[in-house]
Amino acid sequence: MNSSASQQKLSGCAEFVRYFAMALANGALYSNLHPQVSRLAGKAFEALIQAMEKATKISFMLIDDQMVVDNQPLPKGVYSERLTGAFRDKRIESVEFSEGITESDLLQLIGNLLSPETDYQKLAPSEHVRFGKIALSATEPSGDSQEGKGNTLTLEDLSAAEIRILAEIYERAKKRQNFSIKGLSEMVSGLIGILREDINSFLLLSALQKKDRYTFTHSTNVCILNLAQAISLRIQGRLLHDIGIAGMLHDIGKLFIPEEILCKPARLDEEETALIRQHPVKGAEYLYAIPNIPPLAVTTAYEHHIDFAGGGYPRVSADWPLNLCSYITSISDVFDALRTRRSYQAPTELPECKKILQKISGTKLHPALTRHFLTLADSAALKGPFP
Ligand SMILES: [Fe+2]
Ligand SMILES: [Fe+2]
Repeated sequence: MNSSASQQKLSGCAEFVRYFAMALANGALYSNLHPQVSRLAGKAFEALIQAMEKATKISFMLIDDQMVVDNQPLPKGVYSERLTGAFRDKRIESVEFSEGITESDLLQLIGNLLSPETDYQKLAPSEHVRFGKIALSATEPSGDSQEGKGNTLTLEDLSAAEIRILAEIYERAKKRQNFSIKGLSEMVSGLIGILREDINSFLLLSALQKKDRYTFTHSTNVCILNLAQAISLRIQGRLLHDIGIAGMLHDIGKLFIPEEILCKPARLDEEETALIRQHPVKGAEYLYAIPNIPPLAVTTAYEHHIDFAGGGYPRVSADWPLNLCSYITSISDVFDALRTRRSYQAPTELPECKKILQKISGTKLHPALTRHFLTLADSAALKGPFP
């Protein structure tokens, strides 16, 4: 095969992986019978046929955590991570598609991958879809780690590699070391891709609840909520990307606040409150010194607790011009804090969240942006199960 044909095949495979992974994600959120799943499976089918071209077979193999198509590694990213995760969950080492495959074969495969059945030998093969042997790797997932999989989209489903990137950044930040923005940029680009495809999945994506690493998941939630707001405001390009990065890093200053205060399951005293209120300044100072951090992330870290009508912290002059991204981040921040289950607080239900946002709109939050956010939340809630 010449190099341009091989390139075409690889790009067809990457398209297939993208649509198939999105179909899986939607199937996990709604059901594999949801029309969105059929639509995405149809697109995956078209891409697969394009990738197969004149070949009679094409095989997708999982080698370690790398997806390989007919011996060519596929580029890694959010989508291939999701697919490799789905294969690994079922202990499938490879899937071979052969000539004559139909859309309904793909839908059956999605049903198989989403089924609670974990023994791959019990999954229903079809004439044109064959599973490879069980992967017996030393890193076989334990039963515990599978808890809850298959019905909720979690950060883990998005990308294990990206979690590692974030965890590493947080570790380096704790030691006040520099970190590279590259991995974070790639993660934000991946999230933009997902949200562009289905903006209504944003609230479900934001249902990431891990009590033990609240700041970590909260930052990802705020990033996703920021991106959803920005995309629906038709913001594009560099600014969109930077709004996502700003969401991800807005609370990084909390890493410099003692954990026992951050996690205290009781009312904070005056001194403790004053300490927590230093996190915007500490975060902005830290980010300012890191090479290649978007200036918007520094500004947002500093401003995200300053109220629309003045007030909040840190104290600034009455005519201080707040950045649009800071307004957006404040909304995401308040909403996620309300929606997240904490060890000492149950999550607030959507109608109550809406009431609270409406109540503080115009004082704490920007009124027009809050209205916009509530419309977005309504449309997402109508489309699927709200977390
Ligand atoms: Fe904050
Ligand atoms: Fe926050």
